[in-house]
Amino acid sequence: MKIHLAPMEGVLDYHMRAILTDLGGYSHCVTEFVRIIDRLLPNKVFYRYCPELRRGGQTPSGTPVIVQLLGGIPEAMAENAHHIAKLGAPGIDINFGCPSRLVNRKAGGAVLLKEPHRIYDIVRAVRDAVPAHIPVSAKIRLGYDDCQPALENAHAVQAAGASYITVHARTKMDGYKHPARWEWLAQINEAITIPMIGNGDINTLDDYRRCCEISGIQDVMLGRGALANPGLARQIKANTQGEDIEAITWPTILALLVQLPELLKPSDISNGRYITTRLKQWLTYLRSHYGEAQSGFQQVRAFKDYETIIARLQLHT
Ligand SMILES: Cc1cc2nc3c(=O)[nH]c(=O)nc-3n(C[C@H](O)[C@H](O)[C@H](O)COP(=O)(O)O)c2cc1C
Repeated sequence: MKIHLAPMEGVLDYHMRAILTDLGGYSHCVTEFVRIIDRLLPNKVFYRYCPELRRGGQTPSGTPVIVQLLGGIPEAMAENAHHIAKLGAPGIDINFGCPSRLVNRKAGGAVLLKEPHRIYDIVRAVRDAVPAHIPVSAKIRLGYDDCQPALENAHAVQAAGASYITVHARTKMDGYKHPARWEWLAQINEAITIPMIGNGDINTLDDYRRCCEISGIQDVMLGRGALANPGLARQIKANTQGEDIEAITWPTILALLVQLPELLKPSDISNGRYITTRLKQWLTYLRSHYGEAQSGFQQVRAFKDYETIIARLQLHT
């Protein structure tokens, strides 16, 4: 059983990957997407998105970090994928799900779901450019406007030689709205033979169980639920091994929140504003799972310096 930590641009960076994978349960992480236009990017870009490349492609607790690429030109995607493989990436994932207008206008992300032959060409080019022992995967949504292209796109990914596919069970037009369409995961899983990872709206152990029941899959990717409920991966993993473990308590989460500014400080050049934004961002996700995060957020929302925010959280929650 595999649990992947989702790519989330501007949220799940190196530091969050380190914190969350240290709690246990994850088999892999995926980086935020690296946008490929038409040429080879310099090493510094790849090291910025995936500092783990400097340490064997793994988080400090040893979870492999797959590098995600987004782009519409097969040759450029292939050239960059080949290079990242040489830098030591343990896997390459291709993003066919990003709904951003900017990215879609430049023919990358979810807009490609309208053109299965282009999905095939991109995956094929990347697969051919990367040594066979390094997995190449694709992450798709169910479609752009509706779910009809889901099967054709999944077949295109498979026919192009992908090692596995991740399916975010929403269309581009669905955005991130609830509920994800887990029943489509079942249809796709029945239609293809490569392994499939299901994604969308798995926020609790019970969600995981229901998603498995509906879709027939066991391997999942956790997105917002991983941030809201940081112990979710290890809870799911333990449960599938017949164990019951306690949810992570608020004091442990608070200790992780305190840790985040320490991790961000060395590279912060914004007088702490960036750190404040990142703290509030994580608190916002945590609010849906922890009452203490909800009350803490009310306490600190007006404050702009992160030291005060941390002090207030420690005092009041
Ligand atoms: C803020 C944000 C940033 C995201 N960035 C990426 C990304 O860089 N690459 C990608 O494939 N998906 C990205 N996603 C989609 C997530 O990986 C995931 O597919 C989606 O959130 C659905 O899962 P969830 O319902 O468990 O959150 C992003 C989602 C959010 C909310």
